[in-house]
Amino acid sequence: MPYKFHDLSWTRGNFTASTDPSLLQAEEINKAFELDAIYWCKPLPLTKLREILDNSLCIGLYDLSTSIDVQTDPGSSTEDSAIYSGAPHSAKQPARKQIGLMRFITDYATFAWGTDYYVLPEYRKLGLGEWLLECFNGLMNAMEHSMDQSLRPFRMMSAGRASTVDWYAKNCGFRKLEHGDGGVVYLVRDEEGKRRQKEMAKL
Ligand SMILES: CC(C)(COP(=O)(O)OP(=O)(O)OC[C@H]1O[C@@H](n2cnc3c(N)ncnc32)[C@H](O)[C@@H]1OP(=O)(O)O)[C@@H](O)C(=O)NCCC(=O)NCCS
Repeated sequence: MPYKFHDLSWTRGNFTASTDPSLLQAEEINKAFELDAIYWCKPLPLTKLREILDNSLCIGLYDLSTSIDVQTDPGSSTEDSAIYSGAPHSAKQPARKQIGLMRFITDYATFAWGTDYYVLPEYRKLGLGEWLLECFNGLMNAMEHSMDQSLRPFRMMSAGRASTVDWYAKNCGFRKLEHGDGGVVYLVRDEEGKRRQKEMAKL
């Protein structure tokens, strides 16, 4: 029943954060992916990006004071079509502008791969990045509450820079696993990895 985590929302001043997938604005997210500061990815074909978002648990961050027209997704099913983007027909609808995101690939109980965490440049240094992590804390608390946490503590992986480890430690209570803790290794299947695989096959 993963969808029980799709109805969480938090509001602070003119901003709201929400796990409702129907509010996500793929076009706005793709524009953010063009920014140099979002160094780990590039924009994706919109249909592929929507597929990825559909299969992830996301916290979207929205500016309540700025409306934009977004194309609604025929596959979505929210009833709040007056404000948000997910009316079940294809049309331009006013929506609150999406200004940030945290995306998780998760089993909804014990593990999340956190990625695509950003706040748009014009909204930075207002405390919204830290607040998004507070919302993530709320989400983790809800997930942990849904199962006996003593069975397995919540784990997260992220491919951020070294300072990110401290950032998540300070804001979300994560600590880095050492090898003696049965630490994890980070594996990536990229072009270099595939080239090495071919070389190894020749030996
Ligand atoms: C990281 C990001 C989401 C922070 O958003 P924000 O709204 O500016 O954050 P806040 O206003 O709550 O906090 C800003 C503070 O956090 C610190 N901070 C931001 N990112 C940090 C990081 N990865 N590690 C350590 N500290 C960080 C900044 O130094 C800043 O402190 P300062 O104002 O004293 O200089 C934003 O800078 C961003 O989108 N960056 C580009 C994408 C990115 O790097 N994402 C993180 C990938 S791990």
